[in-house]
Amino acid sequence: MNNNLNWQQHAIKPIDRERLMRHKSLVIWLTGLSASGKSTISNFVEKQLYQKGIHSYLLDGDDIRQGLNKDLGFSEHDRTENIRRIAEVAHTIRQSGLVTIVSTISPYKSNRELARDIISEQYFHEVYVSCALEVCEQRDPKGLYHKARSGQIPQFTGVDQPYEPPTNPKLTLPTDKLNIEQASLTLVHYIVSKVKEDRT
Ligand code: ADX
Repeated sequence: MNNNLNWQQHAIKPIDRERLMRHKSLVIWLTGLSASGKSTISNFVEKQLYQKGIHSYLLDGDDIRQGLNKDLGFSEHDRTENIRRIAEVAHTIRQSGLVTIVSTISPYKSNRELARDIISEQYFHEVYVSCALEVCEQRDPKGLYHKARSGQIPQFTGVDQPYEPPTNPKLTLPTDKLNIEQASLTLVHYIVSKVKEDRT
């Protein structure tokens, strides 16, 4: 930490931006295995929020790994740095007044705790997109599990790297039991109830 830096005072505060938006801001942090349905749910939810006049932005792990985080791989160290940077960006977007949706595997509990600390507990909503590994492997929309099983992708989550499920998520969306529309609408209702609620 550089001692010669100071946090700047901003004339317009996050609360002012929330007033302008006419709703509260928060971060929805979707975690789950590859092919569990995170991206599909995120896109469905964003469309629904848009129609309701709720401003949102989606940070998708696959996108970020092709831009901001393209220097990172999938070792434990790099996944931690991936999550740290995503959490900083999510924090900034949240402060701009938006409902911020993060969609990343984020397999390690400690990484999600780091994200919660960066974003701050009151705005951090961990949502577990749960789906049995066998079901994800059967779906395999990008053929990645197949490649991982045949040794073409090392360090693949669920195959040769762990996934640590959340112990106390705000919401669980079991996509091996609910269809995508049901799971997404559950999340839309959750978000609407939180951004319209009185925080004072
Ligand atoms: S995380 O573990 O660091 O949170 P993130 O969500 O950003 O992962 O990126 C996961 C995406 O990277 C997957 O959707 C998949 O397309 C791709 N990918 C490539 N290699 C791996 C790997 N070894 N493990 C998991 N995902 C991988």
